[in-house]
Amino acid sequence: MKSIKVVLLGLGTVGQGVYESIESHREKLIQATGTEVEVVGVLVKNAMKTRDIHSAVKVTTEVSELLAIEEIDIVFEAIVGIEPAHSYIKSFLEKGCHVISANKELLAHKGKELSSLAKKHDRILAFEAAVAGGIPLLRTIIQLLQINGITKLEAILNGTSNYILTKMRKEKADFDDVLIEAQALGYAEANPNNDILGTDAFYKLMILSDLVHQQQPDWELVEKQGVNRVSLQDLIVGEKLGLRLKLVASLQKSHTEIVAEVKPVFVSASHPLYNVEGVDNGIVITTDLVGTILLQGPGAGSKATASAMIEDLVYIKQQGNQDLDFKRSSNHVELLAEGEQPLSLWVAVSEALNSEDLKNNYSITSKLEDYNVKLIQRELLKTEDGYIVGDFLQGKEENVLLFLQQLKQDTLRFYPVSGTGLTLENITVESPVKLTIK
Ligand SMILES: NC(=O)c1ccc[n+]([C@@H]2O[C@H](COP(=O)([O-])OP(=O)(O)OC[C@H]3O[C@@H](n4cnc5c(N)ncnc54)[C@H](OP(=O)(O)O)[C@@H]3O)[C@@H](O)[C@H]2O)c1
Repeated sequence: MKSIKVVLLGLGTVGQGVYESIESHREKLIQATGTEVEVVGVLVKNAMKTRDIHSAVKVTTEVSELLAIEEIDIVFEAIVGIEPAHSYIKSFLEKGCHVISANKELLAHKGKELSSLAKKHDRILAFEAAVAGGIPLLRTIIQLLQINGITKLEAILNGTSNYILTKMRKEKADFDDVLIEAQALGYAEANPNNDILGTDAFYKLMILSDLVHQQQPDWELVEKQGVNRVSLQDLIVGEKLGLRLKLVASLQKSHTEIVAEVKPVFVSASHPLYNVEGVDNGIVITTDLVGTILLQGPGAGSKATASAMIEDLVYIKQQGNQDLDFKRSSNHVELLAEGEQPLSLWVAVSEALNSEDLKNNYSITSKLEDYNVKLIQRELLKTEDGYIVGDFLQGKEENVLLFLQQLKQDTLRFYPVSGTGLTLENITVESPVKLTIK
């Protein structure tokens, strides 16, 4: 099976972490995806920096050179800020690539637009790493939302702020001193404003609002305060009262209005966020069915963030089962073949049929020859529905979308949904086909 070809946009803390994790977890990735993951290109800003990567990987400052590489399956976006990341992601989605991004600023501003674009091109935009780093938060929320209604979220989403507050309280240190230490340890960036003014937590909260409520509140109405004005005295007084100060991002829907805020809040020992200390993130999710749950863990850092991004890769691959060119939902398989790409045509049969039976069936092939489609490979694949035979065929047809529906035991069908030349009448081969289906 062909490898999964990926490019990395950015090779900083996150990009390098993704690269190294792909290398260090090569075997696990093969087990999870069924094939090799191959980094074929990297985009950076500074061509002069020495890079710790294999010499075969193309390193460039020109995104056009990566866009020109054929057959890129997945793009990891780990550069900073809205532009040019926004334009780059659009170009790669339009090229037909899946995109995995860690860029919360971009996703808070343009997440909906990019998700729609991804949907339009039948690609996946995944961004687990953008909120709470290594904690599998977004997929947990998606899973919960299938049944539960999420009534409230309260979260520590910025590890740098939490580190500063924890350190100030424990060591009776001043804000400015702890900030310098956090920068030296690499927790806070050289320009730490996004962290200490609450902006980073705000962006993440807006992404969560999109996910939970399918919309964001008016940004002007969201109260946003950081930890920059917290004094040591505040923490000492709080401690005497059995309270800890945390930068809490909260999200709640009252009637039709979404109420969101980011601000330092004192929590008592009985609050689930009380023991979320240091650089950890913590998210308290309250739902109408499961009640309250707490997710806690590393919200940033090279490896934790890379972990979330690689989980996204596995998720994308597993969505497509055996081939990244098609996407499966619970009751059908979709396949989109675009432009000059090989056209894969899917045939459904009962699982009782073996590959020998299939190879002996020429009626499918001959029927399709009229449409300049020829059989290049046969492979038996099985869906969770228990039925599927994938026939790989190559043709000149463009933009042909075919999908397969769950079948009854004794039927066999091709389903073209849109495209050129092929119509349902042309290629439906139900009961007339000379296949034995038991
Ligand atoms: N660090 C974390 O723990 C963490 C966690 C979750 C999410 N994130 C998000 O992940 C993204 C990357 O963060 P990071 O910490 O890895 O940043 P970083 O260490 O500053 O790395 C940024 C990388 O992007 C490249 N780059 C920046 N602007 C570029 C441009 N215009 N064109 C091409 N390449 C460009 C840089 O190139 P050079 O190497 O040439 O400078 C560098 O390799 C950000 O959106 C951040 O918010 C970070």
